Amino acid sequence: MLLLALLLVAGNFAWLQIFRVSEREPRAVQVAQQITSIVNLTRSALITANPDKRFDLLRDLSEQEGIQVHAGAPNEAVEPLVDRPFVRLLIAELQRRLGSDTRLLQSTGAAGNVWVNFAIDNVDYWVSMPRERVERTEQLRWIGWGLLVLLLSVIGAFLIVTRIGRALRELTRAAAAIGRGQTPAPVDESGPSEIRTLSHAFNQMSTDLKRLDEDRALLLAGVSHDLRTPLARIRLGLEMIGDKTDPSLMEGMVQDIADIDAVINQFLDFARVSGEQSAATECNLDEIVNTIAERYRRQGVAITARSGKVSRLQLKPLAMQRLLTNLIDNALRHGSAAVEIETSLHDNRVRLSVLDRGPGIPAADAERMLQPFTRLNTARSTSGSGLGLAIVDRIARLHHGSVQLLARDGGGLEARVELPAL
Ligand SMILES: Nc1ncnc2c1ncn2[C@@H]1O[C@H](COP(=O)(O)OP(=O)(O)O)[C@@H](O)[C@H]1O
Ligand SMILES: [Mg+2]
Repeated sequence: MLLLALLLVAGNFAWLQIFRVSEREPRAVQVAQQITSIVNLTRSALITANPDKRFDLLRDLSEQEGIQVHAGAPNEAVEPLVDRPFVRLLIAELQRRLGSDTRLLQSTGAAGNVWVNFAIDNVDYWVSMPRERVERTEQLRWIGWGLLVLLLSVIGAFLIVTRIGRALRELTRAAAAIGRGQTPAPVDESGPSEIRTLSHAFNQMSTDLKRLDEDRALLLAGVSHDLRTPLARIRLGLEMIGDKTDPSLMEGMVQDIADIDAVINQFLDFARVSGEQSAATECNLDEIVNTIAERYRRQGVAITARSGKVSRLQLKPLAMQRLLTNLIDNALRHGSAAVEIETSLHDNRVRLSVLDRGPGIPAADAERMLQPFTRLNTARSTSGSGLGLAIVDRIARLHHGSVQLLARDGGGLEARVELPAL
């Protein structure tokens, strides 16, 4: 907006300068012509007028045209006109027309006259005329009009900028919503053609992304679902032939099946989060934490939960449980047995931390681990899908929150989820 306004000011100023310079010479010629006419008419009138009528003539000139003639010298204090390009041009033009000893003076008063000399039979005469004949008197009106034009241009610039700005803000908002994994309502495709094209392309991209996401979710869910049935049959078969084989081999196979099942579960979870549509309700985060911790305790896993008595939040409870389970499972599998959960409130943001004392995640890899199918090399030997943290990240973003994997003071990992407080 400022840039546009500056451009307009500069443009107007340049235009004004060009106008002034190019208009200067024609105006000087025109004014010189007028003065020449006045001087010549006065001189011929003086020469040819009947001596009886001469006084009347001079009085008429004075009363009707403001023109006075004096023999000898001006009857008031005079000085040269201020030296300006226009005045120089005017004097040159006058001297060309009336003779090289022509002089142009002005009275020293504020509302003074302009004086020009001429000679009759070697006698000097001065003719005085109102200043309006030579100079524009209403300079201020010019500036006023210029300012009005400028004001209108700035208002125009403001309108253009707000029109574009509004569209861009809407696009930014929609892009941020896509970043959170939501599908924003199509943005308005109006305004200047470039913005229209951009909005249209954006809407197209938004629908494409949504379809792509749905296709992927469908594919994942389909494959995972179809894998489960044969897997269940294999487990059943194994149990039936159980007694006839080596028990350790048998145990290994059951474990493998459980691992595959867990991976399939993650695939299904990932697909579910992508298409998550359920409404958020007001929930107590500490309650969800306690429920999950209790569930682990029943399986013999000790989990310490420290409640920060955070206020109630808008949450999707099932998704939130999935987020917690994924973080706790990670802490148990990749970290250490002593898992702690903490909730607290920091500047209008609710913080949920899952802490362990394991090897942690190097800071350089932390961001990458939130992508689907990424795992640290140290985890390659354990079973898993690499989807757990991607699911956590998606659930956090569904809640307008974020996930950070931080090095915990004293070693270990702090998986920190931050959600906006109500
Ligand atoms: N608590 C943790 N301590 C150390 N490393 C972790 C922890 N949580 C996750 N990681 C690392 O991040 C990777 C990605 O985790 P995740 O997405 O849950 O996949 P998965 O658990 O299936 O391997 C893990 O493979 C592991 O290398
Ligand atoms: Mg995991």
